[in-house]
Amino acid sequence: MFITLEGSEGAGKSTLIKNLKKYFIDNSIEFIFTKEPGSTEEGAELRKLLLDKTIELDPISETFLLLADRIEHVRKIIHPALEKNKNILSDRYLDSTYAYQGAGRKINKEDLDKFIKPLNFPEPDLTIYLDLPVEEGLMRAKDRDTLDRFEEEEIDFFERIRDSYLKLAREDSNRIVTIDSTNSEKEVFELAKECIEKKLNES
Ligand code: TYD
Repeated sequence: MFITLEGSEGAGKSTLIKNLKKYFIDNSIEFIFTKEPGSTEEGAELRKLLLDKTIELDPISETFLLLADRIEHVRKIIHPALEKNKNILSDRYLDSTYAYQGAGRKINKEDLDKFIKPLNFPEPDLTIYLDLPVEEGLMRAKDRDTLDRFEEEEIDFFERIRDSYLKLAREDSNRIVTIDSTNSEKEVFELAKECIEKKLNES
């Protein structure tokens, strides 16, 4: 089972992951948790470049760095897990690229498809998208720590990302489940847990 978690800045992914980890451990459900960018040794180097706000990157270079990170992530972590029939949950994956580089950085979808499709990345069985109004998310994110290269962007950038996620969720409603992140931490966890369990029972 391959699950991905998506959302804009401050949408509560980290809190949900913390709660899911605890729940899986308490219930002896085996899950591998991973994230993008930066889960492999090579990816960690790419992540530094991607988040460094002193570096100015062309959107296409940014996309290729993210795809290089994904190639290593899939090759070293995701594929081996799926081959052994393990459950794996990735914090961000393909939809992030369509939302951030496609809508955020304004690379058209046809071009993104041309870069991405030949790479044959495995399709997630389920994607949970945590949706939150942009202003609220940015306020939460700003309270946390110093801003990285993405978090420094203007509000319009994040509005485009949110619209894109909502569109992706409408277009692929069999795979993507949207959870309203204005709900309490507990409610978000309960809703996510329910859809993950439903998927696990189906397989
Ligand atoms: P991270 O610190 O992991 O933030 P978050 O908690 O928001 O996931 O930073 C990862 C950043 O990389 C995040 O701002 C989104 C961005 N990103 C893309 O722009 N495209 C992608 O394909 C991926 C995987 C991430």
